[in-house]
Amino acid sequence: MSDAPRLPPAYRLVALDEVGSTNDEARALAEDGAEDGTLVWAQSQRAGRGRRGRSWHSPPGNLYLSLVLRPDRAPAEAAQLSFVAALGAAAAIGAVAPPLTEIAYKWPNDILVNDRKVAGILLESSITGGSRLDWLVLGMGMNLAAAPTETDFPATSLRDEGCGAIAPALMLERFSRHLLAWINRWLDDGFAPVRAAWLRDAKGIGEPISVALGEETVVGRFVEIDETGALVLEDAAGARRLITAGDVYFENARNAPGEQGTERETKA
Ligand code: BTN
Repeated sequence: MSDAPRLPPAYRLVALDEVGSTNDEARALAEDGAEDGTLVWAQSQRAGRGRRGRSWHSPPGNLYLSLVLRPDRAPAEAAQLSFVAALGAAAAIGAVAPPLTEIAYKWPNDILVNDRKVAGILLESSITGGSRLDWLVLGMGMNLAAAPTETDFPATSLRDEGCGAIAPALMLERFSRHLLAWINRWLDDGFAPVRAAWLRDAKGIGEPISVALGEETVVGRFVEIDETGALVLEDAAGARRLITAGDVYFENARNAPGEQGTERETKA
């Protein structure tokens, strides 16, 4: 294990060497009653998971964490936390990146550095009886030292983008501080400031995109995200459609339809 990170008192750290998936560990802890702020951090994962059942490349040297949260919020608001986490991740990256490094958000949950995916967020939640969230697990993987090569959307690492060798413990400290600040902003002021900050650096706003929704792919102009975090897509006739889940592809970009920086499903 590397040097113990110093985290804000709001977090209770569960530091592990190798795990299957930090999200699985955090979910199990949450089911057992772990408190808000329990943070599972691992040096590597054997079965790191991305969105839509994909695998997440998880060798030692990168950052893998999952945070248990119990916000007193309606389930419909849970997805907003992936935007909150993206802001925290971008702020942490901005602090170590060379000047002029381009940091952007890709809807719904990716962080891009110089137009390549460097981090992704996996949000999982449970609702109890009523209409409130019971627990929520916010998982984040950030490529510090290594990125997968077999991806359709290009992936990168902070080392490859000129940020030097960053110890996972150091990035965990930075990320946890920025994340806490953004979570508190969200709890105090709601989604509006989060949405505004995210939109300022979002990739593709106003541009033509396609969105893969399982079997169906829709095309149009990426107008914005609405007050719930849904993507607003405008078709050629000017009709607007709200999209709550899907994979975005940019016209004239390097990526082709497929997955978004996670490893190909056929790869171990
Ligand atoms: C995505 O972009 O598809 C989301 C990737 C999320 C990966 C992280 S790594 C830490 C946590 N544990 C997991 O198994 N997944 C998340």
